[in-house]
Amino acid sequence: MARASGCRVWDESGREYVDYIMALGAVALGYGHPAVNRAASAAIDAGVVGPLPPVSEQALAAALAARIPWLERVRFLKTGAEAVAAAVRLARVATGREDVLGCGYHGWLDWCQGATDGVPAGVRALFAELPFNDVATSRQMIRERAHRLAAVVIEPVVVVEPTREWLEMLRVETTRAGAVLIFDEIKTAFRLAIGGAVERYGVRPPPDLVVLGKALANGFPLAVTLGKFSSPRPLDCDFGGATAGVGSNATHPMPLKYTSTQEWASKSRTVKPLPVRSGVPALNPAATRLGIPAMRSISAIVPENCWQ
Ligand SMILES: Cc1ncc(COP(=O)(O)O)c(C=O)c1O
Repeated sequence: MARASGCRVWDESGREYVDYIMALGAVALGYGHPAVNRAASAAIDAGVVGPLPPVSEQALAAALAARIPWLERVRFLKTGAEAVAAAVRLARVATGREDVLGCGYHGWLDWCQGATDGVPAGVRALFAELPFNDVATSRQMIRERAHRLAAVVIEPVVVVEPTREWLEMLRVETTRAGAVLIFDEIKTAFRLAIGGAVERYGVRPPPDLVVLGKALANGFPLAVTLGKFSSPRPLDCDFGGATAGVGSNATHPMPLKYTSTQEWASKSRTVKPLPVRSGVPALNPAATRLGIPAMRSISAIVPENCWQ
C-alpha cells in the first residue's frame, strides 16, 4: 500500500481500492481522520513519551467509563495481543491456577499459540480451544478442568453471533469454577456497540475482564484491559502493576486515542451494528452487482461511517 485516505487505499502503481475491511478492523473512522491526526500531532508536540504515564490516560479512562458503566479499573497497553496476555496473566495470579480455555484468535503470543513453532510444550499444554457456541462441550471442558482453570477467554463473535445460552453458560460455569471470564472484544468493541458484545447482548454480570483494541485508536497502537471489581473505588489506570506489563514505551501516545474515542461517542448513531450471518452471500451491494459472492463480517465497516 502506498497511501490511504477515508475508506480508500492506493497501491504503488496508483490503483485505487475501497477497503471494506478497514485495516483488518483497526481503522474505524477512516484513514487519516483529521481529528485523530490533529491529536497525534499534538502528542508529538507534547514530547510523545516520558518517564511517567500520560495524564490523558485518565481522560480516556473517564470517556470509556461513560460508555461502559461497569468499568472500574483500566490498564492501557499497545497491542491487542499483549493486552489479552496481560488479562490472562492477571487471571493466573488471581486464581493461583494455570490452565486457560480460549475461543477465537487472541494474538500471536505463546499462551494461546499451541500450533506455532517455537512455543514450548509446557506452555502449549496449558491451553485448549473451546468450541464456539457449543454449550454442552464448552460446559464439559470447563467442568473437567474446574480445579485448575484460571481463565476462559472468548471472542464473543467469531463468524456468527453467539447464542444467549452459550454466553450465559460461560458466565455461570466460570463463576462456579472460580475462574476468570475474559471477553476479547478487540474486534467487537466500537462495532457491535461502543461497549461491544457485553453491551449488545446485555451480559450480566459482566465478564471479569474485557480487552479492547483496534478501533479504539483508529489505527494507532493502543489496547486496554478493563476490569470490574466489587469495591467502589475511583478509576484506577495502573491496574495490574508490573504483572500486566512494564516498558519504556508501555503507554505510548494517549492523547490521540482520547480524541479518537470522543469521535466515536459523537458518531455512535451512525455506526450501525452490522448483522453477522455466516454463509449469506452477496450482502455487499457492489459485490452483488459484480456477481461476486461476498460475506459481510464483523470486521467490515460500511464506508459511510468513514470521514470521506
Ligand atoms: C479478537 C482479537 N484478539 C486479539 C488480536 C490481536 O491484536 P493485535 O493484532 O493488536 O496484537 C486480534 C487481532 O486481529 C483480534 O482480532
